[in-house]
Amino acid sequence: MSEKSDRLCVALDGSDRSWIVSTARTLAGTAGWLKLGLEAFTAHGPALVAEMAAECGRVFLDIKLHDIPTTVRRAAANCAATGAAMLNVHAGGGRAMLEAAVEGAQRGAQASPPKVLAVTLLTSLDRGSLDELGLPATADELVVRWARLARDAGLDGVVASAEEAAAIRRECGPAFLVVTPGIRPAWSAADDQRRVMTPAAALAAGADILVVGRPITGAPSPLDAARRVLEEL
Ligand code: C5P
Repeated sequence: MSEKSDRLCVALDGSDRSWIVSTARTLAGTAGWLKLGLEAFTAHGPALVAEMAAECGRVFLDIKLHDIPTTVRRAAANCAATGAAMLNVHAGGGRAMLEAAVEGAQRGAQASPPKVLAVTLLTSLDRGSLDELGLPATADELVVRWARLARDAGLDGVVASAEEAAAIRRECGPAFLVVTPGIRPAWSAADDQRRVMTPAAALAAGADILVVGRPITGAPSPLDAARRVLEEL
């Protein structure tokens, strides 16, 4: 697998099992990562994750765990047992929960443990939402603060907007993974994403892995679209 493909994660958002599996087979080997989220997971469960991990390569299981530490430890172990190569939790669960996620991921893994990422602030939350939640800081301050907490708790990286990538990189260092959704090549539609960045701009801002969904999965040829994104990197 080339270095460029390692940086592309395609989001397979859907509930139709045959579409997910056939698209995963088409893109395996071109995209270094395939992402299964809550929609696919709640429809088809860990069996689909295990099948894709065995057949199609590295799977990012994006179900954003958030609960008391013991529950997250056990759930992260179950996630790791599927063979997923990366999973995530909410940073807002606090240090003990983050540490428990790392322990669980290590405990449940069959071979090398999956990478564990923290979702800092959902990009769907704006200033008004933070006020309503009683969080006095700006989104940027919170994201950097929670990224630092995730790093100190032993996590491998964060999921964040590409707009925050540079600040996280400065704070958390070069080895900390920054995985960014909201990526839109110039030739694609923004869909419902508000703050978007092109693949090349996101990499220049410090992102390590770019999550791209509909520009690839909704294209007439997902394989051609994935190759086009790789060419832009
Ligand atoms: O189709 P699109 O490229 O917008 O898909 C982006 C993917 O990244 C989706 O699976 C979405 O759930 C996920 N995501 C996001 N914004 C976040 C976190 C995750 O768009 N802040």
